[in-house]
Amino acid sequence: MNAEETSALLVELAASLFRRGYSVGSAGNISARIDDGYLITPTNSSLGRLQPERIARLDAAFRHVGGDRPSKEVFMHRAFYEARGAACGAVVHLHSTMATAVACLPDLDAATAIPPLTPYFVMRVGRSLPLLPYYRPGDAAMAPAIRDAARAAPAVLLANHGPVVSGRTLLDAVHAAEELEEAARLFLLLRGASPRLLTPAQVDELLATFG
Ligand code: 13P
Repeated sequence: MNAEETSALLVELAASLFRRGYSVGSAGNISARIDDGYLITPTNSSLGRLQPERIARLDAAFRHVGGDRPSKEVFMHRAFYEARGAACGAVVHLHSTMATAVACLPDLDAATAIPPLTPYFVMRVGRSLPLLPYYRPGDAAMAPAIRDAARAAPAVLLANHGPVVSGRTLLDAVHAAEELEEAARLFLLLRGASPRLLTPAQVDELLATFG
């Protein structure tokens, strides 16, 4: 896909997420790798009303080279691209309600904030969802923690803030963000019920079969 096609898809997927309540106001940001750099949503823009020609363009060193001023979370997206290399073609950050509710709970397992409840959560989001400590939005000090976690996991949960999810393609990252939100909803529904989890062998089988 060239840059124009990628920005058209980004606008379409962002509007779809917004329409379905995954993002409100100007919350959330989305980026995608293009041939000579990256596209990222402008700061303070609504995912529901993006315009392709105003999407920010960054060069391969993440310098702003076109479009509106980029999201203040560029460093968060950059940490994923740097940690995951070719496995990362896009990053989606949302304040989606259920995942953010989980991110506010005390006593979560920091190694895996949401356990392996369903196959699609494991297939799209992976074996673990690291929980990172709270940082203020836009605080570049969180980059090293994100980079460390993203080496082993395609998504992280930021305490009291929300999920950050990567994927090989833009569509993959959006699908994974939707799956994560659904798993968070199930996790909250099942709190106190001691649900049966997928076993380590079942998780291994899913990852070996679906990568
Ligand atoms: P931006 O508007 O700068 O992208 O920030 C929105 C956000 O979600 C902060 O976490």
